[in-house]
Amino acid sequence: MEKTLLIIKPDAVQRNLIGEIIRRAERARFKVVNIRYLRMAKEVAEDFYQVHKGKPFYDELCNYMSSGAIVPMVLEGENAVSGVRELIGKTNPIEAHPGTVRYDLAVSLTKNSVHASDSPANAVREIKFFFPREDV
Ligand code: CMP
Repeated sequence: MEKTLLIIKPDAVQRNLIGEIIRRAERARFKVVNIRYLRMAKEVAEDFYQVHKGKPFYDELCNYMSSGAIVPMVLEGENAVSGVRELIGKTNPIEAHPGTVRYDLAVSLTKNSVHASDSPANAVREIKFFFPREDV
């Protein structure tokens, strides 16, 4: 069993897609074991995405991620890190495969509806970021 972090981003929360995205995760046999609803201050978004600091899209990304409510959650299941990445599809929705969350629901590269941890080490860091008391 492995845990990963999935974030439903402001564009998807705004369009009432929380249930649809959780349904897809659950249908793929991942269990929601922790969940929050919050809006990040810009400084918090900058901290979360610090690995992207200095990249051309960093400022737009942090502005966007602090523009509205998000729903971060811990998903648990076998190979959850790679499995959830498969479920959501490529970062850019125009490169994602049909049936993935981003192909089906995302609006653009920035408004790409969801974020999921890309490695087990990042999953630990990202889960602890939103759920400091979570056992990982
Ligand atoms: P996410 O998985 O949340 O990780 C970083 C985010 O930066 C990414 O999804 C995109 O929403 C956003 N982003 C914007 N432009 C780019 C880009 N050129 N390359 C990668 N990510 C980008």
